Amino acid sequence: MSADGFAHGPPPGARANWTIDQAWDAYGAAEHQVWITLYERQVALLSGRACDAFLHGLDALDLHRGGIPDFTRVNEDLRRLAGWTVVAVPGLVPDEVFFEHLANRRFPAGRFIRPFDQLDYLQEPDVFHDVFGHVPMLTDPVFADYMQAYGKGGLRALRLGRLRNLARLYWYTVEFGLLQTPAGLRIYGAGIVSSRAESIFALDDPSPNRLGFDLERVMRTPYRIDDFQQVYFVVPTLQTLLDVTTHTDFAPLYARLAEAPDIPIAEIAPGDCVLTRGAQAYASGGAAQ
Ligand code: PHE
Ligand code: FE
Repeated sequence: MSADGFAHGPPPGARANWTIDQAWDAYGAAEHQVWITLYERQVALLSGRACDAFLHGLDALDLHRGGIPDFTRVNEDLRRLAGWTVVAVPGLVPDEVFFEHLANRRFPAGRFIRPFDQLDYLQEPDVFHDVFGHVPMLTDPVFADYMQAYGKGGLRALRLGRLRNLARLYWYTVEFGLLQTPAGLRIYGAGIVSSRAESIFALDDPSPNRLGFDLERVMRTPYRIDDFQQVYFVVPTLQTLLDVTTHTDFAPLYARLAEAPDIPIAEIAPGDCVLTRGAQAYASGGAAQ
């Protein structure tokens, strides 16, 4: 993810595009063990929960291999399978830098890993979230194109001053998206697949609403960054997501959205396609973005 408020350039030691070396040799045994623990926990949970594209990607990239993956090694497969690469960055990067990377099929990833006593708690995305969560989906050709298109769309939204709306699309698809399949709902969002608790909550909990994906609706819906979601949006196929977003010119949409009020997170609005009407029993008090 990206962050606002960087008037300055990259930190010392980083390149002009904010990338750094992963410095894979510098990881210690304890850090590798955190990866292994998280990996095994999630893999055990995700069969029958994550979508096939994610599970196939995970297999194809063989992200287990005894610890935190070496980006150089991952990139050999990722480049061949999808024309994408992972690049290490020092943490959150400015929006423009983030979009520029995506538009060039580079996924910026943190290189640090959370400490063992905080397996479930994350303030900033770490290498487990970024690589385990995001990278498997990049091996899916349709999703790979979606991410690149999103990067280009991000640069445009920045110019048009509507990033607030476009960021919600990222949130409710790339981070917290659900997919309809003949076997039932499946997860494709990186924020869900990299979280033990939300991998269960997103599919099974009676609390959140689950609504059919609608582009304009999503861009009017704020989100919480500090707790489980109160609403998930379900795409019928990844191809639909790619088609709807690439075939829609967002400029007139942004103009409309500038006038339209936000829809409160837990609300069901007229025209919503309701898959699950949530009880909203689990509601956090956090601020919405
Ligand atoms: N079609 C969008 C635009 O006109 C760009 C975009 C594509 C945004 C895919 C997000 C995802 O701005
Ligand atoms: Fe993320």
